[in-house]
Amino acid sequence: MLENLPDNFRAVIFGASGGIGAAFRRALEEDGRCAALYVGGRQLLEEGGKTRSFTFDLTDEASIAASAEMIGEGGQVHLVLVPTGILHGKDFGPERSWRELNAETMTVVFAINTIGPALIAKHALELLPRDEPSIFAALSARVGSIGDNSLGGWHSYRASKAALNMLIRNFSIELKRKKKQSLCVSLHPGTVDTGLSEPFQRGVPEGKLFTPDYSARQLLSVLCELTPDQTGQSFAWDGQVIEW
Ligand SMILES: NC(=O)c1ccc[n+]([C@@H]2O[C@H](COP(=O)([O-])OP(=O)(O)OC[C@H]3O[C@@H](n4cnc5c(N)ncnc54)[C@H](OP(=O)(O)O)[C@@H]3O)[C@@H](O)[C@H]2O)c1
Repeated sequence: MLENLPDNFRAVIFGASGGIGAAFRRALEEDGRCAALYVGGRQLLEEGGKTRSFTFDLTDEASIAASAEMIGEGGQVHLVLVPTGILHGKDFGPERSWRELNAETMTVVFAINTIGPALIAKHALELLPRDEPSIFAALSARVGSIGDNSLGGWHSYRASKAALNMLIRNFSIELKRKKKQSLCVSLHPGTVDTGLSEPFQRGVPEGKLFTPDYSARQLLSVLCELTPDQTGQSFAWDGQVIEW
């Protein structure tokens, strides 16, 4: 897996407590070519073997900066995964109409889905090596595509992911000037059986609700096939490019 990264590559997952994040962790722990793995969560996660844990919160830039500094002390990082996100909370769900818009909910959704991953990029892109292949990948969603949107609804979630996709494109342009072998992309995992999708799984066609392990492995194989000229784009679990 990830043969496009150097032997003994070093990886970090910002958000290894979630459904897909934990599955990324399992896949990278099994990958003998991954020499060091850092896993972050709001709570300290279990450590062992090549895996070290750290805490961060997407709404606290200082915690992100401190995590990046700690990871950087061990050396450069070739793979940064950001599988965090929010669709619903205790008091809110995705809006079906503009009448349901609420500034407080929009602020939370943008803080978690857009601003937090951007701040991770701010600190973690510095950790990528200048002269070796590297990947920064944040989890977005197909519903964040403006061109692909024919259903409407889910205003805050869709808009926050569309904004994330724009930031990924921007960062990729800046990054490739300094680090020519880098990739900066967003990913759509399919519909995956996690807490995030749980209230919305009823209409999912048979065979289209993926396990987190299946989705994570698909996404890692997609990343493995990418070349630096494909930076700045959004890719689905099956390798398809998602239009913006
Ligand atoms: N599941 C799907 O069907 C689906 C479909 C399309 C796109 N996606 C995208 O895939 C990504 C992963 O989703 P998932 O299904 O694995 O969801 P999940 O199981 O709910 O995981 C969400 C992750 O985000 C973390 N998070 C939330 N708020 C945070 C904060 N303030 N600080 C730090 N971490 C925070 C959670 O940490 P805690 O454990 O501490 O809460 C958890 O690790 C998301 O970007 C989602 O939008 C998922």
